[in-house]
Amino acid sequence: MEERRLGPVVGLGTWNTFGGDAVVAREVVGASLAEGVRVVDSSPMYGGAEASLGAALEGRRDAVTVATKIWAPSVDEGKAQLADQLRWFGRVELEQVHNLVSWREHLPWLEGEREAGRIGRIGVTHWDPSAFGELVRALAGGRFEAVQVPLNPLERECEREVLPLAAELGLPVIVMRPLGAGSLLRRPPPPAELEPLRPFGVADWPQALLKWALSDERVDLVIPATRDAAHARANAAAGTPPWLGPEERRLVERLARG
Ligand SMILES: NC(=O)c1ccc[n+]([C@@H]2O[C@H](COP(=O)([O-])OP(=O)(O)OC[C@H]3O[C@@H](n4cnc5c(N)ncnc54)[C@H](OP(=O)(O)O)[C@@H]3O)[C@@H](O)[C@H]2O)c1
Repeated sequence: MEERRLGPVVGLGTWNTFGGDAVVAREVVGASLAEGVRVVDSSPMYGGAEASLGAALEGRRDAVTVATKIWAPSVDEGKAQLADQLRWFGRVELEQVHNLVSWREHLPWLEGEREAGRIGRIGVTHWDPSAFGELVRALAGGRFEAVQVPLNPLERECEREVLPLAAELGLPVIVMRPLGAGSLLRRPPPPAELEPLRPFGVADWPQALLKWALSDERVDLVIPATRDAAHARANAAAGTPPWLGPEERRLVERLARG
């Protein structure tokens, strides 16, 4: 995390997948790490996911960068969240202000925590394009060191302002919802349609979507979530070159529109 670029790589998201289920977490985290995943993303919002992730990382904590979040209206609550995270993870390499909640209040004490070495970088996230104006203002202040936004062929609003600003500022970009929270997988295209993507190492539709996002050179990391170890292995395999060119990306966009 000390250098600017994280990737392009595939990480692992944890929203709505294993929650407090430490057994599923151990399986999915194990499968991901075995396939080379080295970043995991969580949040106090994810119903016990941080605790089960912490347990799943026992004995292999050093293998990953932990990206998690502060999701708290008040500084006191935020500090209590960090105290829990330090128990689970020892250190947080990327601490993100979740959905910009009270970001002006959280920045100063988080900077103190960074100074003390308990957290690495400070980042910020938002899922909703209607908040991207505020997100851009927050980034322009120059105090955030990473940004997380949704990006997939049907959710591209971040391309207008957030990605160009991140590139200008040299900020790592983390992509949430690369599979549209599963909505883009409901009616996958027939396998024959993916034929032109096979030379790029794409074996299935989720991999096509993950590679589509990683092939934007401003993107560092995609963090698909899954509670299925086989899915985790397949997703991790999308994190290696060759990357898609403009023609292949347009094909994925057309297939996503159905
Ligand atoms: N505001 C924020 O900061 C924010 C907001 C949203 C998300 N995030 C982060 O971004 C991460 C990713 O976003 P997301 O969880 O909303 O959505 P996502 O990763 O786009 O999609 C997750 C869904 O895709 C399915 N899936 C994953 N891999 C698959 C595969 N290979 N084959 C078939 N199905 C597959 C999963 O089901 P299975 O379990 O069946 O595989 C799950 O239902 C989150 O987990 C979270 O860490 C952050």
